[in-house]
Amino acid sequence: MIPVCRLDDLPAGESVRIDTAPPIAVFNADGELYAIDDTCTHQDASLSEGWLEGCLVECPLHAASFDLRTGLPTCLPARRAVRTHRVTVDDGMVHVHVATEVFAEVAAEEEGTAA
Ligand code: FES
Repeated sequence: MIPVCRLDDLPAGESVRIDTAPPIAVFNADGELYAIDDTCTHQDASLSEGWLEGCLVECPLHAASFDLRTGLPTCLPARRAVRTHRVTVDDGMVHVHVATEVFAEVAAEEEGTAA
């Protein structure tokens, strides 16, 4: 579990990037908090610098869009999902629970070892 920031410091419509390895972006989408891997799966753009519209974030580089609830791309040029992470708020502090299991699946696909 990684502390991110105070909930008061992440108002609706805003995002914050945390420098984990790989980096994670946390979004406040109209009061709902979401966390995804920050790096676009198309090329090397930071999704925390993208445009947030509802539960979708648009990549600032080539305009691929990702659903924050699932990590799935909703349009090209991105084809692969970003990893999603669980977000909790405890005593006014936002935390991200890093989803290592999904990361392992993505890594296996990239290596061509997935079933
Ligand atoms: S880097 Fe995100 S769509 Fe190209």
